[in-house]
Amino acid sequence: MLTLRNVDIHYGRVHAVRRVSLHVAPGEIVALIGANGAGKTTLLSAISGLMRVSGGDIEFDGRCIASEKPERIVRLGLSHVPERRLVFGPMSVADNLLLGAYTKFRRREVAADLDEIYAMFPVLRDRHNQQAAALSGGEQQMLAIGRALMARPRCLLLDEPGMGLAPQICKEIFRHVVTLRRDKGLTVLLVEQNAKSALAVADRGYVLETGRVLLSGTSEELLANHDVRRAYLGREKDN
Ligand SMILES: Nc1ncnc2c1ncn2[C@@H]1O[C@H](COP(=O)(O)OP(=O)(O)OP(=O)(O)O)[C@@H](O)[C@H]1O
Ligand SMILES: [Mg+2]
Repeated sequence: MLTLRNVDIHYGRVHAVRRVSLHVAPGEIVALIGANGAGKTTLLSAISGLMRVSGGDIEFDGRCIASEKPERIVRLGLSHVPERRLVFGPMSVADNLLLGAYTKFRRREVAADLDEIYAMFPVLRDRHNQQAAALSGGEQQMLAIGRALMARPRCLLLDEPGMGLAPQICKEIFRHVVTLRRDKGLTVLLVEQNAKSALAVADRGYVLETGRVLLSGTSEELLANHDVRRAYLGREKDN
């Protein structure tokens, strides 16, 4: 469904992503793991058209999308839940969700989708009139995911959904990701620093280090890998 071949991305002279190749098959959950500054967010931004690539190809459903306009990529069925959630704080929960449907115009469809999001995240229905800024971190993450789902994506890019959340809340968010795949056949590329929780829900994973793919394999293979254990699962009690 999503294929990257030898992707390079620069910020001026900074070579942030170096010849990265990866693929995500339909219905797969794939984890992209790496430390701070590894290039995870940069890579997701290029997939969703927020950044230009300086080399390589990105294909979605067999179509080249490298350096396409973000709104066209959303229309093709690929939605991005950004790092730090980036909900619109002064706007209501409902308006944040409706913004996610900006590529649509059939009012009845949008209302039905909104209902579906509220069924999935009842807390958002309870607080639909409140400012998004008043939500807790976990609720804001649900809102950011709900907003992305309003575009009816077939593939979801999630950038560190567990960031800053208590382990219990983080688990709940990850459970929703698994449910979305099961019930809607959603394909997911999941960026995380917490390798253990990401690999617990992913089928496969890639380890990114200073812009390069260092390792890839099934979640079981990566969890058993000595380098992964040392670098990302070192302090077991913290995970
Ligand atoms: N706007 C920018 N201008 C210049 N360099 C940048 C910019 N944004 C990111 N970088 C650099 O690109 C590299 C990759 O950054 P990126 O944010 O993609 O990492 P990341 O893996 O998402 O890290 P984190 O886990 O901290 O979110 C880093 O070296 C970073 O300093
Ligand atoms: Mg990042």
